[in-house]
Amino acid sequence: MTISCDKSVQILIVDDNPTNLKVLSNALQGNDWTMLVATDGVSAIEQAHYAQPSLILLDVMMPGIDGFETCKRLKTDVKTQAIPIIFMTALADAEYKVQGLEMGAVDYITKPFQQQEVVARVKLHLHLQFLSQELEEKNKRLTQEITEKTIAESRLQQLTQELEHRVEQRTTELSESLNQLQQTQIQLIQSEKMSALGNLVAGVAHELNNPISFLQGNLEPLREYTRDLLALIKSYQKTFPNPGEAIQKQIETIELDFLSQDLEKILASWATGMERIYTISDSLRIFSRADKEHKVSFDVHDGLNSTLLILRHRLRANENRPAIEVKKYYQDIPEIECFAGQLNQVFMNLLANAIDTFDDISQPSSVKGHKTQSHLITISTDLAKDEKSILIKIEDNGAGIDEAIKPRIFDHLFTTKEVGRGTGLGLAIVRQILVDKHGGSIDVESTVGQGTSFTVILPIQSLTI
Ligand SMILES: Nc1ncnc2c1ncn2[C@@H]1O[C@H](COP(=O)(O)OP(=O)(O)O)[C@@H](O)[C@H]1O
Ligand SMILES: [Mg+2]
Repeated sequence: MTISCDKSVQILIVDDNPTNLKVLSNALQGNDWTMLVATDGVSAIEQAHYAQPSLILLDVMMPGIDGFETCKRLKTDVKTQAIPIIFMTALADAEYKVQGLEMGAVDYITKPFQQQEVVARVKLHLHLQFLSQELEEKNKRLTQEITEKTIAESRLQQLTQELEHRVEQRTTELSESLNQLQQTQIQLIQSEKMSALGNLVAGVAHELNNPISFLQGNLEPLREYTRDLLALIKSYQKTFPNPGEAIQKQIETIELDFLSQDLEKILASWATGMERIYTISDSLRIFSRADKEHKVSFDVHDGLNSTLLILRHRLRANENRPAIEVKKYYQDIPEIECFAGQLNQVFMNLLANAIDTFDDISQPSSVKGHKTQSHLITISTDLAKDEKSILIKIEDNGAGIDEAIKPRIFDHLFTTKEVGRGTGLGLAIVRQILVDKHGGSIDVESTVGQGTSFTVILPIQSLTI
């Protein structure tokens, strides 16, 4: 854009002398600029206000407010302060020129006017004004761009942060569910092991059943037949006191008298053994009772006894410690409605922990020379005061549990035992079975060096599904 052909260019000429106005107008006429005129300061300010001229030519000496005052007012008003002002002074007024420039005028021209000089200066200042406006606009655009960019950048940064945060959150979530999955898996494996054990025990019990029942079934006839045969021999001896030398010799060789007495004893102990085997097989059957789906009416004492039977080999003396004695204090309690297999698992875990503590303290490194006290596990049962629940207490006089770790023993995977010996799942499963599956509770009391006691409370009537 060039100034000369810009129709919107308006120039305000302010002079009280009409001749001057005319001369200037004429001088500037040929440039496609629109001329506005004012003959005093006040009307010049008014016009500048509404017409917004591109440039003002301002006479210094005027009646009313002079050029300086006019300039001052224009420069203090935001609407007009950007309009360039060129002062017009007489040649002699060197002081005025300086004063004018100090007040914010961009230039001055001297009277009498040199037409070409006036045009040239006006053009120059219009051009400068145009350039500075353009610069200002560019500056504005630039500032805006920078602002936009800054906003975009901070938004980007915010988004990045959000993304990072979300990734982090998701990672935590994932590792949490992975952890949970692992725990569930371990728990599954554990209960899978229990059910495998249950199946094995059930299989063994089943297989034993047949031979046991025919051995037991035939035992009584065997005893009778034997007695009959011995009685028959006696009768023979009575009727034929002299059976001949050969038979007499045979009687001596086989020690018939001793044989007769011993045979009776052997058969009696055989009967006892049979009774034992029968009890064991019955216990195995109780232990393995598979009732995964439904709660059944269950004699807790049966569960405790059959679990003890399964653990019996661990109660025996070994090279590190004497046998563990088990004392039972069973009260008369009703059967309870429960998942019998799961309760057996509870008894199994609690009793196994009690046995573990003796195996631990009996290890040579921790043997205390003076410790001669016997290893004892006490199992007591009772009816709760409200008669709606039963209490089962399993106590040992083992190492006890340190106060510091007591709050953690029911946690998943918490164990103080070495890898391979402990999984840290036993008590977690115990609590889950008792609390979640049966609406019961478990409590622990323990003193280091004296022993530990777990108290289980179970409702007689099932409260949960
Ligand atoms: N009767 C007990 N005597 C001493 N400490 C015990 C007893 N029962 C449990 N604990 C402590 O509680 C921990 C957790 O037991 P548990 O959940 O059964 O896991 P694990 O037996 O595999 O270690 C054991 O490692 C042990 O430190
Ligand atoms: Mg355990």
